[in-house]
Amino acid sequence: MYFLTTAIDYTNGAPHIGHAYEKVLADVIARYRRLRGEEVYFLTGVDQHGQKVQQTAEKEGIHPATFAKKKTKLFLNLWKKLGVHYDGWAETTDDRHKACVQAILSDLKERGDLYKKAYQGHYSVRQEQFLTDRDRNEAGEFGAEWGEVVEIEEENWYFRLSAHAAWLKDYVSSHPDFVIPGFRRNELLGALANSADLDLCISRPKERLRWGIEFPFDPDFVTYVWFDALINYISFAGYLAADNAGLPDFAGIWNTGRPVHVIGKDILVPAHGVYWPSMLHAIGFPDERLPQILVHGWWNMKGEKMSKSLGNVVDPDELADKFGVDALRYYLVRDIVTGKDADFDLDRLVMLYNQELANELGNLCNRALNMTARYSAGVVTTGAATNADDHALRDSLKAVLGEYRAALDAFDVAEALKAINRHVTVCNAYAERNKPWELAKDPAHKPRLDSVLAHLVESLAHCAVLLSPVLPDPAQRIAAQLRMDNLLDLKLDDLQWGLVPDGHETGKPKPVFPKIVTEEA
Ligand code: ME8
Ligand code: MG
Repeated sequence: MYFLTTAIDYTNGAPHIGHAYEKVLADVIARYRRLRGEEVYFLTGVDQHGQKVQQTAEKEGIHPATFAKKKTKLFLNLWKKLGVHYDGWAETTDDRHKACVQAILSDLKERGDLYKKAYQGHYSVRQEQFLTDRDRNEAGEFGAEWGEVVEIEEENWYFRLSAHAAWLKDYVSSHPDFVIPGFRRNELLGALANSADLDLCISRPKERLRWGIEFPFDPDFVTYVWFDALINYISFAGYLAADNAGLPDFAGIWNTGRPVHVIGKDILVPAHGVYWPSMLHAIGFPDERLPQILVHGWWNMKGEKMSKSLGNVVDPDELADKFGVDALRYYLVRDIVTGKDADFDLDRLVMLYNQELANELGNLCNRALNMTARYSAGVVTTGAATNADDHALRDSLKAVLGEYRAALDAFDVAEALKAINRHVTVCNAYAERNKPWELAKDPAHKPRLDSVLAHLVESLAHCAVLLSPVLPDPAQRIAAQLRMDNLLDLKLDDLQWGLVPDGHETGKPKPVFPKIVTEEA
């Protein structure tokens, strides 16, 4: 089983483009693994607890539960709209999740991994965390990134993170593939080398924060939002769940492959790189059952961080309405290298869609199907007069298949799309060179015409399959026009020359990628 998760998104606001990117990226990976013939369980969801949600709800004068539900709907609707197809949905207010978090708290207490202690010091309201002198900047102050910093004195529960620090350093050093890409792992190694081996405060007194999961053995406290949220990866996979809970069988999900968590760069240190492996280790997960963390970069705006205060936040829902779901899905994984940051640029969204899909691939669809209809009554004839140019085209496809697979195995979606596009370009140049419209003028050239058309149709069938993880709907539309309705049931290993049988009758082309016309144009 290929178990894939994403970060669960805070419901203190509406979904933004970064959320959409991460879910589409994970959706593409899930669809690709299915194309590889693997069984996949894709879990995503929302993070509904915490101080931010409580505060925003208070401002609106509604209960945090009502507020979180309302925001959750926006996420659910967006994933539906964008074709993000998940198998499990994680909402942290779910009773089954609460029960799991509470069972883990009790387990950790029994193992001697929790203790209660009084604390006096600084606290960042925005980041919902306690600050130490190490968090001060060079001027000795708590920088703007912490938002409002208050002094508090209170008793809380602590998780003995420090007791696992030596193990964690050793684990991360000896497991180069724990975090990918490698430069993100280096960030984690750097952070571990400089860490102060502090314990983690995992409770908040109810008088300060009510909106969280209550401690099972100390009802005056709720669970720190990160401790609660991280557990979603196992609670919704069925960890400690009753048989009739409607959750998957945990061993079947978690122990039959390497779970992959897709997250953004901001939540590797400390949440997913320090807290999470330590938590799993503390509750008895052996090293070989720890997940892999795939860290993606951020979409920025003209080099600047997107933020509500800068007013440069992009609404994915509006973009999907304006440019279409296909253009948006395509752009989100085409113009960024997995792991690195990129600039979100609407001109490039339009340009890449128009050039690579509407023009190049659209051209191939149109030529392959239109000319087969016009010159051969829609009938594909294979095995006719092939020549060196045909073999070069087959070689191009073979090379592209290898490049595509290598790229997606390494989560590099942009590179996989570029590989497909290279073959499409090769096909269009091949059509220009072989000029089927000229060959059609002379019946003596019929065998050659048949061969050229068969090579274009066959290429198109392959491209539709390869494109399907990123653009499932257009791929299906191409399959339908090819009159190969079961084309997308093929697995990657089934892809070899000869998908379109001799005598196959194709359908009429209808534009799959209508050109985006911008107002300025
Ligand atoms: O961090 N570009 O939630 P979140 C790309 N609830 N990705 C971005 C982005 C951007 N501009 N902005 C945010 C949380 N993200 C926690 C996670 S997991 C147990 C709990 C990514 O709503 C971000 O990196 O702030 C993270 O992976 C995800 O969106 C959710 O961010
Ligand atoms: Mg965040």
